[in-house]
Amino acid sequence: MRILLLGSGGREHAFSWKIAQSSMLDELFIAPGNAGTRLHGKNVPIDPLNFEEIKSFVLENEIEMVLVGPEEPLVNGIANYFQEDTQLKKIPVIGPNKTAAQLEGSKDFAKQFMQRHHIPTAKYGSFTKETLGEGLRFLDNMKSPYVLKADGLAAGKGVLILSDLNEAKAELTTILTEDKFGKAGEKVVIEQFLKGIELSVFIITDGDSYKLLPEAKDYKRIGEGDSGLNTGGMGAISPVPFADAGFMDKIQNQIIIPTIKGLKHDGIDYKGFIFFGLINVKGDPYVIEYNCRMGDPETEVVMPRLKSDLLDLLEGVATNTLSERDIQFVDKSAATIMMVSGGYPEKYEKGKQIYGLNTVSESIVFHAGTTSDGPTVLTSGGRVLAVTSLGKTLDIALERSYNSIQGIEFQNAYYRKDIGFDVK
Ligand code: AMP
Ligand code: GLY
Repeated sequence: MRILLLGSGGREHAFSWKIAQSSMLDELFIAPGNAGTRLHGKNVPIDPLNFEEIKSFVLENEIEMVLVGPEEPLVNGIANYFQEDTQLKKIPVIGPNKTAAQLEGSKDFAKQFMQRHHIPTAKYGSFTKETLGEGLRFLDNMKSPYVLKADGLAAGKGVLILSDLNEAKAELTTILTEDKFGKAGEKVVIEQFLKGIELSVFIITDGDSYKLLPEAKDYKRIGEGDSGLNTGGMGAISPVPFADAGFMDKIQNQIIIPTIKGLKHDGIDYKGFIFFGLINVKGDPYVIEYNCRMGDPETEVVMPRLKSDLLDLLEGVATNTLSERDIQFVDKSAATIMMVSGGYPEKYEKGKQIYGLNTVSESIVFHAGTTSDGPTVLTSGGRVLAVTSLGKTLDIALERSYNSIQGIEFQNAYYRKDIGFDVK
């Protein structure tokens, strides 16, 4: 198969690493990719949001399948673009169409969907500029802390959790009347705060059947002990020790199966990954959010734990034969530690040379924000490298990643030293 993978982060490096191992692969292209993905395929300088350029590339290079890494092309309708084009419509896009991607693209859509299909989630109200007064009264009747969510995609910054009622009211007013999040903030979801421990659960589906992938836990805050600002993710582990068989059964029965049935019932054809952002509230799972793609850095622990051929599964999605495919996991723990640029998630510098990548023998270094200048690898983002290891136990996997990091260097590198601290 000739594959085009869209995206440029750690998730895409992990996908390309896994795809490169497939006996079904003829050639892999990554648009635009990074200094890591070029080890497994050919990087092509195309913006994943430029559908016309993607079309030309796909036709010229006889691409047979497109795997979409990030959410934005999906929410913008890349799957529809292919379906509606006579030259492209036979080429499968792995990722949901524009309507289905609303599960991530609109918090209000996702909440209505969950309510309609009785999927456990926090109680909520949804408000616009016109109903600001109702929104303020709704806050009066909620308990602190207050959770405000911009409806649309806001690059991970659209969720505010505030303890003070007046501050929550002021923020609601600002978002709805002053364009704080642009179009994404034309509607705001106000939600009950749920207290518990979070985990990420993933499936791949062809719209009829699904396969559960290894679950993971992501560490979102910049500081140790889960303190400080939110980031794209500072590390991840898989499996998640508290996600035992009983809890995973509840997730399948109360959340995953109702989601698949709900999509079918609503006439929404979903093909691709679904990422369930869940929280364990006293032993019961609730949905915090849906994403229409894999997680990052979760993919960096999920792919190494997938024993089966990813392309075989993706072909199952494309041809509606997923139920006939086999999925097996590696019976080991995986941990990834994110090395980030000093200053991230606020201001940071790019273009720092990365040294010591060739010293790593016990881990896989997935590139997240890197670029290359000939043989030299430079930082090009906040999250730079995801250092992943497998081990018989979580402790062994973590120790391997932390050891590997000792050999890698770039100016002002930072990483959390406590990944996995809360589940050990
Ligand atoms: P989201 O973008 O929806 O994933 O929200 C970002 C983060 O905010 C989540 O990972 C949670 O840590 C937190 N969060 C979102 N909704 C809630 C909620 N209802 N209760 C508690 N925490 C929440
Ligand atoms: N790790 C969280 C995300 O990918 O959204």
